[in-house]
Formats: sequence, structure tokens, C-alpha cells
Amino acid sequence: MRVALVTGACINTGVDIVEKFASEGYTVIFTGRRLRAVEEAKRRYEEKFPDVTFIGYALDSLLPDGTVDEGAIVDMFSNIDARGLTVDTLVLNAADQGLGMTFFGNSLSDFMNVINTNVAWNFALVQHAAMRMRDTGGGSITFINSNTAYRAIPDRVAYVASKGGQLGLMRALALDLGKYNIRVNAVLPGMIKTDRWVKNPDFYKTVPSRYTPLGDVAVGADVADAVWYFAACARNTTGAELVVDGGNTVQLYPIIPKEN
Ligand SMILES: NC(=O)c1ccc[n+]([C@@H]2O[C@H](COP(=O)([O-])OP(=O)(O)OC[C@H]3O[C@@H](n4cnc5c(N)ncnc54)[C@H](OP(=O)(O)O)[C@@H]3O)[C@@H](O)[C@H]2O)c1
Repeated sequence: MRVALVTGACINTGVDIVEKFASEGYTVIFTGRRLRAVEEAKRRYEEKFPDVTFIGYALDSLLPDGTVDEGAIVDMFSNIDARGLTVDTLVLNAADQGLGMTFFGNSLSDFMNVINTNVAWNFALVQHAAMRMRDTGGGSITFINSNTAYRAIPDRVAYVASKGGQLGLMRALALDLGKYNIRVNAVLPGMIKTDRWVKNPDFYKTVPSRYTPLGDVAVGADVADAVWYFAACARNTTGAELVVDGGNTVQLYPIIPKEN
């Protein structure tokens, strides 16, 4: 039985990733921060995929003092063990977007919350998943990173720094875990049409991501397909970065369409 664990999967891109693995017959474990949202998401998933087993956990990255809540990760994996399941596919999708932060307007602890969630919490999740993968012959770990690891965007210092750090983490893990047949890779989306996109049509119509070589930005399913590639079709690939941004980051200047 194949078992995927997807973090941050009650809303947006995480949902598409869960649904991709469910449609391929995996047992899917997912997380969200609030128990109620997790229960509602589980209900929706079960309605859509009645033959698939879904298990949801309410998991917040940080304790109130800003340190990583490793105890919650330990509890989750103990519970998964007790069910007789082993996660062979880990997708690290959850992220603190660090939205609404400015360089002068926010404190070091605000910055650290984003770094701790996007880098340190993911380190801990990988450690607990990988020690089990090591004992069962291997697995696939995929970070949902961002093309902002390559090119910065304004007022997102903590997020951009965290995604850069996360990419370094991915490479180092690929190196250390290869001998256990654990492959570690990253998907780097550009902008994705999430609910934030839908709620802000005026802003998103004018953002540079629209001016990509392909003329559009990703939907969640595009990201899920890239994750699927790493998980199921990339036996000899580790430490790799797959950019899903319509070609945005390859260009020196954006193509600005002429007004009609
Ligand atoms: N959206 C984009 O345009 C874009 C572009 C490039 C890269 N990405 C990357 O793609 C991934 C998915 O993006 P998205 O926009 O779909 O994400 P999203 O809508 O911001 O959802 C993020 C998920 O992460 C969870 N999360 C947030 N803070 C958390 C914390 N402190 N502890 C535990 N879980 C936490 C949220 O939980 P709750 O459900 O409880 O809120 C949510 O499920 C992220 O890694 C993001 O960095 C997104």
C-alpha cells in the first residue's frame, strides 16, 4: 500500500496534491492547522474518493513561544505507526507566506516564525518521516518551494529567505539520504491561482507573473503533476528543482503585451 503525507492540505494547492495521490490509489494523510478545517476537508475528500482512505491531523508548526512543535510531529508519526502505516511519499506543501510583513515594520521574531515554519519545521518532519523510510527501503520527499528562491519579490523578506534556505535544505538532504534510497526534490511554482488570486482580480491581472513566456500562471493541478513526477516517475532523480512558473524566471525582461 502506498501512503502519501501532504502538509497544509485543507485549502488551495495542497488540495490538488492530495487529490492527485488519491486518484492514483494512495492512502493519503494530510494536515491543516485547525481540527475543524481538517475534519471538513476529510469529509470532502471522502465524498470525492469513496474508495480511498484519508487521515487528517491538526498540526501547527510552532508553539506559542515561536519554537518548533516537534512533540506534535512525534505524536502524529506515532499515531501513523499505530495504524500500521508507513509514509513512503512526503510532500512539504504548508508554508507561512509571511504576507503583510515589511522590512522595517516587522521584528526579528516575526522573521523567525517564517523561517522556523518553512525551514526548521520541515527539517523535523523530514527527520521523522525519513527514519521510517530508511527502515522500509526508501521513499520520496518533495518540497513545494518557490521561484522566489531564485528571484526576490517586494515586502516578503522572510518568505524569500525561507524559500532560499529550504532549497539548500533540499539539496543537503538529497545528498545525505540518497544512500537510503530516499529521493529529495523541489517543485518551484511561480504564482498559483489560489483563493487569494480569485479574491484579488485587479491586482493579479497586473502582476508581472502574467507576462510569462506561456502567458499564464499555474493552477494547483500543475503543481500536483510536478509532485507526481518526482514521487512516481523519477527513479533516478534527487536534488532536482522543477520550476512551474510559465517560464517566468528564464527571462531577463518580462514580455509586456501591447495594449489593444
Ligand atoms: N500561492 C502561490 O502563488 C505560490 C507561489 C509559489 C510557491 N507557493 C508555495 O506553494 C505552497 C502552497 O501554496 P498555497 O498558496 O496553496 O498555500 P496557502 O494557501 O498559503 O496554504 C498554506 C497551507 O499551509 C498551512 N500553514 C500555514 N502556516 C502554517 C503553520 N504555521 N503551521 C502549519 N501549517 C501552516 C496552512 O494551514 P491552514 O489551512 O490551517 O491555514 C495551509 O494549509 C507553499 O509552500 C507556497 O510557499 C505558492
